Amino acid sequence: MSRSRSFALAFATLLAASAPAAAQLLPLGRAAMPAEIAAWDIDVRPDGQGLPAGKGSVKDGERLFLEQCAACHGEFGEGAGRWPPVAGGRGSLKSENPEKTPGSYWPFASTIFDYVRRAMPFGNAQSLGPDDVYAITAFLLFMTDVVGEDFVLSNANFASVKLPNADGFRDDDRETAEKQFWGREPCMKDCKTEVKVLGHARALDVTPGEKKGPKVD
Ligand code: HEC
Repeated sequence: MSRSRSFALAFATLLAASAPAAAQLLPLGRAAMPAEIAAWDIDVRPDGQGLPAGKGSVKDGERLFLEQCAACHGEFGEGAGRWPPVAGGRGSLKSENPEKTPGSYWPFASTIFDYVRRAMPFGNAQSLGPDDVYAITAFLLFMTDVVGEDFVLSNANFASVKLPNADGFRDDDRETAEKQFWGREPCMKDCKTEVKVLGHARALDVTPGEKKGPKVD
């Protein structure tokens, strides 16, 4: 049997067997230790599942933000130089220059907590303790006008925080809404009983008119 065929067979056996059985079949690796799994398992879900115990105030968050984040994200979260802003942008999503921040765009406070804990400060990720991440998240919520300056965020009250754009997302409904396109014989003719023209490219002014716009040789 060629090497690649025997490898393919071994791989197929590995796929077919359940994980612990596969570990016995092939003398490779070892089961992950609980501490290793815990180190990876740091995701926080929108309902607060996965949050560590702890708390932090807006005031402590402001101090930490100025020390560890403001050099890149600006003192008020407005973004220094070309680093991304983390505050502001409310109501800008429908404008020509939408600014996507946790306050204007993100649906859940858990994303702020999870992202900051996982990835920030940039270059020194996962150096913050749980209380620090609660405090910084509280400060970001304050800068986004979601909580007041005396607010203390904790694992106990986390689920009560609602971000401004929480209702701006909906489930992907293509499985039902576009079902007619995915059959063996997709509809190619008269698929809709009525066709409504909702807009014209010209009305959106995406093409420069003849009179305006730069002249190109
Ligand atoms: C050295 C510069 C730097 C520092 C310091 C820094 N960040 Fe960031 N931050 C970044 C960069 C770069 C990104 C974008 C990363 C990407 O998109 O992959 C980012 C993204 C973010 C975002 C997501 C923004 C968005 O809308 O996508 C948040 C929230 C954030 N940082 C919070 C923090 C916090 C809180 C701290 C302090 C604990 C911090 N950052 C420190 C550079 C920095």
